[in-house]
Amino acid sequence: MSKKKSILITGGAGFIGSHVVRRFVKQYPDYHIYNLDALTYAGNLENLRDIEASPNYTFVKGDITNSDFLEKLFSEQRFEGVVHLAAESHVDRSITDPLAFVKTNVIGTVNLLNAFRDLWREDMWDKRFYHISTDEVYGSLGQDGLFTEETAYDPNSPYSASKASSDHFVRAYGETYGLPYIISNCSNNYGPHHFPEKLIPLFINNIINLKPLPVYGDGNYTRDWLYVIDHAVAIDLLFHKGRIGETYNIGGFNEWKNIDLVRLLCAKMDHKLSRATGTSESLITYVKDRPGHDLRYAIDASKINKELGWKPSVTFEEGLEKTIDWYLSNSDWLQHVTSGSYQEYYKNHYGS
Ligand code: NAD
Ligand code: TYD
Repeated sequence: MSKKKSILITGGAGFIGSHVVRRFVKQYPDYHIYNLDALTYAGNLENLRDIEASPNYTFVKGDITNSDFLEKLFSEQRFEGVVHLAAESHVDRSITDPLAFVKTNVIGTVNLLNAFRDLWREDMWDKRFYHISTDEVYGSLGQDGLFTEETAYDPNSPYSASKASSDHFVRAYGETYGLPYIISNCSNNYGPHHFPEKLIPLFINNIINLKPLPVYGDGNYTRDWLYVIDHAVAIDLLFHKGRIGETYNIGGFNEWKNIDLVRLLCAKMDHKLSRATGTSESLITYVKDRPGHDLRYAIDASKINKELGWKPSVTFEEGLEKTIDWYLSNSDWLQHVTSGSYQEYYKNHYGS
C-alpha cells in the first residue's frame, strides 16, 4: 500500500478551519490530515466531533509561535502540503491587544514558512504552501469599486496589518527561496461554528437571549458575505488547482450594509422563534463606533471564477437560513463557548 500524503492544516479547530478539515478528511482518503491548533478561545474540538475518529485524521495541539516545536513536527511528519489558517482573527480584539496578533499572525506564519523551507530545501517544487488571508488587507473602499488581486495593500486595523504582513512574508519566501505558495484573500464568512464575537453569530445569540444588538456607529458599513462551506470548497480547489505564486480573491458577490443585514436577521429570527414581528428589531442599539472602522469591503472574484469555475453555491437567504437553523439546534455548543472567559470579554467590550 502506498503511503498517504501528509497534509498539515493549521487552525483547524476554528471556524473556517474546521470546515476545511472536514472537507479534506472526507474528500481525500489518500491524505493523512494533521490539524494543528493551539485551542485558543476560538478553537474548539467540538467543531470536529463527526470526523475525529476518521483513520486519516490526527489532531495535534500546538502553538505556531513555537519554532522548535514546528521544526520537530515537520521533520517527523514531512508535510507535503500546508493549508495555513491559524490566526488571531477578530478586529476588536486586535484593537485591545495588537501584539497577540503580531505573535501569531506574523511570527507564527514566518515560523511555519521556515519549517516548510528547512524541510524541503531543494525539493520544494512539487510541494505546496497555501496561506489563507483576508480582503481586509486592501483597506477600505468608498461607495464604488471592488478589490481585485492588483489592489494595493492599505490595512487599517492591527488585525489587517498583521495579515498583510504575513501575506508579504509568504510572497517574499516565494521570491527569495522559491517556496511554492498560493495566497487567497476572502471576504467575511458566516455559517455554523462561528464564534459569537463576530457580527452574525453574536447577534443570533443575543436575539435568542433577548439581549441588545450593538450596532457600531450608524450601521452604514458594508461587507461582502460568503457562506463558510463555499469558502472551504474554494480552498480545496485552489490547493489542488491554483497556480503557484498567485493570489486569488474569494467573495460572495453579496454586499450588505450592516443595518440592512441586521434587520433581515431580526425578521428571520422572529419568524423562527415564533415571536411577534419587530421583537428582535427592538433590540437594536446603536453604540460607539469601532476606531478605524473600514467603510466598505467588496470583492471581485472573477479570477477564481474564470480559472477554476468557482462561484458561491448558496444564496445569502439560503445560507442565513442554514446558519440560523444550526444555531437554534446547537444550543449546547453556544452554551459551551459563551461560558467562562467569553463573559469577561463581553463585559469588557460591550460594558454589560
Ligand atoms: P478563528 O478565530 O475562528 O480560528 C482560528 C484558529 O486558530 C482557532 O482554532 C485557534 O485556536 C487557532 N490559533 C490561534 N492562534 C494559534 C497559534 N498561535 N497556534 C496554533 N493555532 C492557533 O478564525 P477563522 O474565522 O476561522 O479564520 C481562519 C483564517 O481565515 C484566518 O487566517 C483569518 O485571517 C482568515 N479569514 C477569516 C475570515 C472570516 O470571515 N472569518 C475571512 C477571510 C479570511
Ligand atoms: P465582524 O463580524 O467583526 O467582521 P469584520 O470586522 O472582520 O468585518 O464585523 C462585521 C461588521 O459588523 C463590521 O462593520 C463591524 C460590525 N459590527 C457591529 O456593528 N457590532 C458588533 O458588535 C460587531 C462584532 C460588529
